[in-house]
Amino acid sequence: MNEILQSEETLEDDSINPALRPQYLSEFAGQGAIKQNLGTFILAAKQRNESLDHVLLSGPPGLGKTTLASIIAKELDSEIRITSAPALEKPKDLAGILTTIPEFGVLFIDELHRLRPAIEELLYTVMEERALDWIIGQGPAARTIRIPLPKCTLVGATTRPGAVSEPMRNRFGINFRLQYYTDAELEQILARSADLLSIEVEPNAYKRIAESSRGTPRVANRLLRRIRDIAQVAGHHRLTLDVIERALNALEIDKNGLELQDKVILKKIIQHFNGGPVGVQSIAIAIGESQDSIEQYYEPYLIRKGFLQRTSKGRIATAAAYELLGEEKEMLHSEQRNEDQQTFL
Ligand SMILES: Nc1ncnc2c1ncn2[C@@H]1O[C@H](COP(=O)(O)OP(=O)(O)OP(=O)(O)O)[C@@H](O)[C@H]1O
Ligand SMILES: [Mg+2]
Repeated sequence: MNEILQSEETLEDDSINPALRPQYLSEFAGQGAIKQNLGTFILAAKQRNESLDHVLLSGPPGLGKTTLASIIAKELDSEIRITSAPALEKPKDLAGILTTIPEFGVLFIDELHRLRPAIEELLYTVMEERALDWIIGQGPAARTIRIPLPKCTLVGATTRPGAVSEPMRNRFGINFRLQYYTDAELEQILARSADLLSIEVEPNAYKRIAESSRGTPRVANRLLRRIRDIAQVAGHHRLTLDVIERALNALEIDKNGLELQDKVILKKIIQHFNGGPVGVQSIAIAIGESQDSIEQYYEPYLIRKGFLQRTSKGRIATAAAYELLGEEKEMLHSEQRNEDQQTFL
């Protein structure tokens, strides 16, 4: 698994991120409709002196959900408190963070699909009544006191919107689904990051990095840093198209954002399984990967790029995959026929 291409956050991203993370909507590239609508809703809430309605942000890792949450707080001229569903184990964990939220502030809950039922129940009242129902005592003596909260906005983020319970989802007045970025948008992001990190890049070379970034800003920024490392050690202070091309070769990442193992998978399907359909388990055994990593890591991107199809009978390599590997299906078939004939003779 090529770690550079992983869209999940790493520790290194964490330490570099604060510098690269856009702070205002105007610095946030792409997601045009979301940006425009969010800007309008924030302005409207401010004009009415109300808190912004609760916002649900969904989409694959690394597309900017956490970034947008902190932008919302900034644009509201307020503050953000960040937590994640797995960190909210007990009601007191939620109470603890709620009491620190200022008026018009943002409570950001990451991985919303992992909320515990008891916490989710408490959040319903927080979202609807701006109050926390706190239970004192146990058994028959137990009673609830309602603690009023300042006007605030809950921003939830999830990579799996389908796994967020429906009652929870329905309580968000604003629901945005982030999309993968176009190469042009990634170029903008890369140019901004290069500027902030003082990396000199030939203007027409951003495109080459963008193409390999899997539509994901986090991957784009990481690629930029790795290319800089390689270039710097090789004595290049400016990232030209040629320098970038060589660095990407060294990293074994191609212009479709594919790593070597992606191509090994396609090649196996074409050469050993006649292009498919073939079960994922057979592919896993053939290339010596776990079924999980094929299903969760390799396959989604290959499908997104149109190199692989998932059918009820198994995986099929598409015409684009044959083209990519320079293999003609017909040619393969005729080779196969020749072999068959030879064994027959
Ligand atoms: N639209 C954008 N413009 C500029 N930079 C962006 C944009 N979106 C994301 N980024 C950059 O990509 C990085 C990853 O974004 P972020 O952490 O917000 O993703 P995420 O959707 O929260 O991912 P995860 O699901 O893993 O939590 C950020 O540090 C930021 O620098
Ligand atoms: Mg995040």
